[in-house]
Amino acid sequence: MTSGGDCPGLNAVIRGVVLKGIKSHDHEFVGFLDGWRGVVDGDIIELPRQRVRGISKQGGTILGTSRTNPYDGPNGGPENIAATLDRLDVDALIAIGGEGTLAGARELTDAGLPIVGVPKTIDNDLDATDYSFGFDTAVQIATEAIDRLRTTGESHHRCMIAEVMGRHVGWIALHAGMASGAHAILIPEQKVSTAQVAEWVREAHDRGRAPLVVVAEGWVPEGDAEPWAERGTDASGRPRLGGIGEHLAPEIEALTGIETRAATLGHIQRGGVPSAYDRVLATRLGMAAVDAVSDKRWGTMVSLHGTDVVVVPFEEALGNLKTVPQHRYDEAAVLFG
Ligand code: F6P
Repeated sequence: MTSGGDCPGLNAVIRGVVLKGIKSHDHEFVGFLDGWRGVVDGDIIELPRQRVRGISKQGGTILGTSRTNPYDGPNGGPENIAATLDRLDVDALIAIGGEGTLAGARELTDAGLPIVGVPKTIDNDLDATDYSFGFDTAVQIATEAIDRLRTTGESHHRCMIAEVMGRHVGWIALHAGMASGAHAILIPEQKVSTAQVAEWVREAHDRGRAPLVVVAEGWVPEGDAEPWAERGTDASGRPRLGGIGEHLAPEIEALTGIETRAATLGHIQRGGVPSAYDRVLATRLGMAAVDAVSDKRWGTMVSLHGTDVVVVPFEEALGNLKTVPQHRYDEAAVLFG
């Protein structure tokens, strides 16, 4: 099952699971459609070997996804889901998802269900894994887009603001900003005043550069109310993000007198072909997950430690976001302005 926001590399996990499971363990596979919704409704497709042929380079997920909760509806909750798995002759579930999905998986394993998790997020904010697949692709896409913003900014002698994803953490902004040589990187972990951003913009402009600001969608200017507060929440109850770049552009323009434009990259960062790095990582995680299932290591998650894929219990893996540490921001900030 794939659940939560999609992510380049999901199909490579599915292929890794199925191929390793068939070749090493003689398992058979079905896929639950659209995240927990398919598990709750018992909505499956067969996943024979030929169904996963060539899919590791495809974006998205062949199983579909949703942000549904496993406790939703009359068929949700551990007892109903156990009965559904039993009826479908399913011995174990591999849940591929982010913090929310895996927290649901943890509750279900605590209630006795046989589940192994695979961490997924382009935001790279899961604490127990050094990198999550999808992050490398997102950084690559964001960097390419920011490089393009730079050339149009240079032609018009404008300041350009690129807004990238990153609801709680700024890993994408930090890496794409460093890769593209941004003059300021703004991330949720760091309170920075708009006046300071304007100062960095002015410094770059005074050296004859077209200032480039990379901002994570979850950044809040120091001293500001959350600028998106009036935009309310989405269907899953989360604040609607997207728009901090547009909010910032007129303020920078007013403070510096430099014409400023903003572009929000949004879901472009989550779509399309995964990078080679993400395909390899995702395939390895999928293979390790099916080994963990064969060993009946319920309530665990596969994760990357250094260059090794290891298995960690949910209780160690969940609950803490992996934020950008101060020293990583300070290192990048030397290059600002
Ligand atoms: O968690 C991954 C993420 O891409 C965040 O960076 C972003 O805020 C969110 O998902 C967007 O979710 P949705 O696709 O539901 O709008």
